[in-house]
Order: sequence, then structure tokens, then C-alpha cells
Amino acid sequence: MSVRKIYTYPDKVLREKTKTVEIFDEELSSLIADMWETMYSYDGIGLAGPQVGISKKVVIIDYEGQKKTILNPVILEKEGTCTHEEGCLSFPGIYVNVDSPERIKVRYQDEKGTLHTEEIEGFLACVFSHEIDHLSGTLLIDRVSPLKRQFIKKRISKNVCMECEN
Ligand code: NI
Repeated sequence: MSVRKIYTYPDKVLREKTKTVEIFDEELSSLIADMWETMYSYDGIGLAGPQVGISKKVVIIDYEGQKKTILNPVILEKEGTCTHEEGCLSFPGIYVNVDSPERIKVRYQDEKGTLHTEEIEGFLACVFSHEIDHLSGTLLIDRVSPLKRQFIKKRISKNVCMECEN
């Protein structure tokens, strides 16, 4: 296992179209193992393939003991809206309020290729939506108001620390 490089905004790999995982082999297992290692070393709760430069439909999530490897996810249903403060390892130091569905029904495959259909709600639904968004190149910055978007871009281009304000 090794810690991989995390690609940050505005790297174009974050916008690339991802490919469906079709082969469940050792290469995939080692990618997933590296992703766990990488996510934990950065204290994240979710990580998607494009964030480590791999344009494949691979997501991992570990939120309150719910550890999931999610391949080729499809959101079947969504319901309601709730607002949570979200961060993203590809936007270090930035935390913004984002609207996301309150409940989702999602179908995905695990690392062995087995299909799962689950209904998820609350903050975990928000984490799922955020990570699944990564697979279509949709980022945190796309889901905020134009004003906030400008503010984030400015912060990133100036490379200002969000916490110490200088
Ligand atoms: Ni993210």
C-alpha cells in the first residue's frame, strides 16, 4: 500500500470523464488499498478515483464506522434537500455550505463485483452525493452560488490560508 498524490482544483483530471470498472483484478484491489491509505493519511471521510488521478468509477467512504467501497454507482432516487458544511481533499482548507439530497437510493458494486442497492439518509447521503459527483467531474465549487464560487477561486489563486486569513 502507498499514499498517492491528491490532485487539487483546478487540475483538469478532476473534470475528466470516468470509466466504468469492468475488471475486478489485483490492479483494482491495489488501487483501492492505496486509496484507503491516502484517504486516512489526509483525514478524509471520502475519496474518489479522479482525486488520485485515476479516471475510473471508484469511490471509498468511511463515515462513523460505515466503511464502503463503491464501484460504478448509480443514484436511482433522491428526495428532499438538506444543507451541510462540506470540505473536499481537492480543495484543501475550504469548507462551504452545500445543498444535497436528504435521502438517496443508490446501486453500486463492491470490490468483488457484487451488486448492492441501499437507501441512505442524513449526512451519509450527502457524502455519497459528493463522492458520486466527482465521477462526473462535478465539484464542490459547482454547487455554490456564483459569489461564493468567485470567493473560492480568488482564495485558491492567491493561495491564502483559509484558517489564518493571511
Ligand atoms: Ni471531494
